Amino acid sequence: MLKIAPSILSADFARLGEQVAECERAGADVIHFDVMDGHFVPNISIGPVVLSAVRRTCGLRVDVHLMIENAERYVEAFAEAGADTLIVHVEANVHLHRVLEQIRALGKHPAVALNPATPANLLSQVLDDVDQILVMTVNPGIGGQQFIRNVLPKIEQIRQMIGTRTIELGVDGGVDQTTARAAAECGADLLIAGTSVFHDSRGIAKAVQALRG
Ligand code: DX5
Ligand code: ZN
Repeated sequence: MLKIAPSILSADFARLGEQVAECERAGADVIHFDVMDGHFVPNISIGPVVLSAVRRTCGLRVDVHLMIENAERYVEAFAEAGADTLIVHVEANVHLHRVLEQIRALGKHPAVALNPATPANLLSQVLDDVDQILVMTVNPGIGGQQFIRNVLPKIEQIRQMIGTRTIELGVDGGVDQTTARAAAECGADLLIAGTSVFHDSRGIAKAVQALRG
């Protein structure tokens, strides 16, 4: 089953509650919440206070993508603020196994993200510790970038590595109707999309439908 996760980084933050509710009515499966610290990635975005507000306005699962250093210091705050899944980056967490265990102990779904240049084999020792793998198809930190097609074989490779495990395989960055198809054909079953959902002149509902199609 293919899941659609609008990334609220591209939402109109002055109308965030309304737009999240619109995603829910449009049949989105998950809300993707991007956290940036200005160190691991160039931008600074939103934190636990905004997450609690989103949590209050919607009944959907919320996946929190932590594009931050020292994730172990913050996972508890995001868990308390209402995250369902906590996604940490392989590149930003030297003690990756420890932070994944910490997330599991908080009763949340542990997930791991990989930058475009990071090889799939870095996941080999954590496959039994995660519920989601997020493959970045842009360099993280900015919305509205172009999907990097060279990452497609890595999506296929990770699908093979997952085997029969129940791990979701997400793609994040530059996902639109065309690239969604390519990613899904390589085995992705969770499509994260910011610009193509929130900047579609036909509105959020049509954009979500188009991605599912
Ligand atoms: C990028 C973020 C993405 C971003 C995707 O650093 O992790 O979730 O919002 O945005 P689009 O779909 O515009 O590439
Ligand atoms: Zn993201």
